[in-house]
Amino acid sequence: MLDTAPKNRPALPPEIARRRTFAIISHPDAGKTTLTEKFLLFGGAIQMAGQVRAKGEARRTRSDFMQMEKDRGISVSASAMSFDYKAWRFNLVDTPGHSDFSEDTYRTLTAVDAAIMVIDGAKGVESQTRKLFEVCRLRDLPILTFCNKMDREGRDTFEIIDEIQQNLAIDVTPASWPIGMGRDFVGCYDILHDRLELMDRADRNRVAESIKIAGLDDPKLAQHVPADLLAQLREELEMARELLPAFDRAAFLEGSMTPIWFGSAINSFGVKELMDGIAEYGPGPQVQPAEPRQVAPEEDRVAGFVFKVQANMDPKHRDRVAFVRLASGHFQRGMKLTHVRSKKPMAISNPVLFLASDRELAEEAWAGDIIGIPNHGQLRIGDALTEGEGLRFTGIPSFAPELLQTCRAGDPMKAKHLDKALMQFAEEGAAKVFKPMIGSGFVVGVVGALQFEVLASRIELEYGLPVRFESSQFTSARWVHGPKEAVEKFSQANKQHMAADNDGDPVYLTRLQWDIDRVARDYPDIRLSATKELM
Ligand code: G4P
Repeated sequence: MLDTAPKNRPALPPEIARRRTFAIISHPDAGKTTLTEKFLLFGGAIQMAGQVRAKGEARRTRSDFMQMEKDRGISVSASAMSFDYKAWRFNLVDTPGHSDFSEDTYRTLTAVDAAIMVIDGAKGVESQTRKLFEVCRLRDLPILTFCNKMDREGRDTFEIIDEIQQNLAIDVTPASWPIGMGRDFVGCYDILHDRLELMDRADRNRVAESIKIAGLDDPKLAQHVPADLLAQLREELEMARELLPAFDRAAFLEGSMTPIWFGSAINSFGVKELMDGIAEYGPGPQVQPAEPRQVAPEEDRVAGFVFKVQANMDPKHRDRVAFVRLASGHFQRGMKLTHVRSKKPMAISNPVLFLASDRELAEEAWAGDIIGIPNHGQLRIGDALTEGEGLRFTGIPSFAPELLQTCRAGDPMKAKHLDKALMQFAEEGAAKVFKPMIGSGFVVGVVGALQFEVLASRIELEYGLPVRFESSQFTSARWVHGPKEAVEKFSQANKQHMAADNDGDPVYLTRLQWDIDRVARDYPDIRLSATKELM
């Protein structure tokens, strides 16, 4: 196994070094679900394709959503899936479902060490790919690229590579090279291992046949590849060697180079090579940023942070599951950890690991793993769990929502339940909830319009409470920072604009950029921000 410890750091203990925690990002329809399914299949986590039902969100209709919400098991198991692949333990963290892009996605990416970017060979870099890529870049995540749907007519290989380089400003190095395209696609030449991979069109779940080749002059090539395609392959590879950088592991690990594999997820082609890529080249669990010091995976003491909270996973129990990324140490079931925010000890007696469609008790877990901790709402996004140290993991922001609406209970007698329901969703990170200083009702903020409908349905389903969302007089929310007295004075002078978020922190609501500019001008002590770092 290659050493994946970052430079100037000791080698990781083998159990930690074998962990690979990553997410798959893509524009809807590029093939994320199909690829995930094949990963699970080859990782032995599912028996046949077709079991992962969660699909690309953009084309999901409202009724699909509700079905998914009812069928909790799916979205839950899809949050983090652990399985073994050869000598490695893969933790595949799903980038969340309920909107094309939300802060959930960002937070999910704080829990992983690498990302696989799937692109459609015919479409290249699409809008969502770019957005998600930018988030990965903010964290310098190493990225592996999978160019999917090579069984269809797509673009020229150089053109695709060029588009990624130009659009995303990252060096691209071919890990494999496609031979033919569309109907003529026969497979790939594995550049990193000098192998020929041939696609089996007859059986979609069969892994490609792999033939070891002694370089491009090996006569074996001619036995498997039609002459015209072989001539083209030789020519293209020669050009690629001249024009494109060779794989440089250090550049990949620092996020400035992405290796690209070509394949067809639906035909199980190229998937194993990609899995081998993330296994062999890493990275393993990385150092996590925290205050007052960063946390290294090999440290003996256990520390971790909550990056996602999911409520009502089991309709019979009103439990919540907090998803924790272990940043260091060796966790064992029953351990008592300190919940840093409340400074209280917490016995972690029922941690769960998510193995494809089942959840099972986690007897142990290591740095890099994701465990689910059932709780009654004590654990919030951003919370740290440690063996006593007062750590705060940084870089888990809360963004200002882009859409605001007022929420009222359909039945005024039940209005007080609305408070509880909305607070729950605020804790889950599914919405921002603001209680205005003046007037009744709540202002709810989300990133995608569909989320209002999802919220209304969930409140009705889970709390038996019909609600109405109405347009709000406000369109923007900004957190208010500054010395306590200045904030107090500002709040009093702008009561009609002020609200409190679910933590009680002051928020300024407005519909005009002009207002925001005016605050900057008139209140030099006050800073308005579109993000709030969670503690
Ligand atoms: P997503 O999660 O990124 O949204 O993509 P998903 O895997 O759902 O794939 C989107 C569509 O692309 C699906 O077709 C899927 O079958 C197809 N697809 C995935 N990989 C390949 C591939 O390698 N080659 C080809 N030709 N198609 C691929 P669909 O018609 O939308 O759905 P379905 O009816 O096939 O399930």
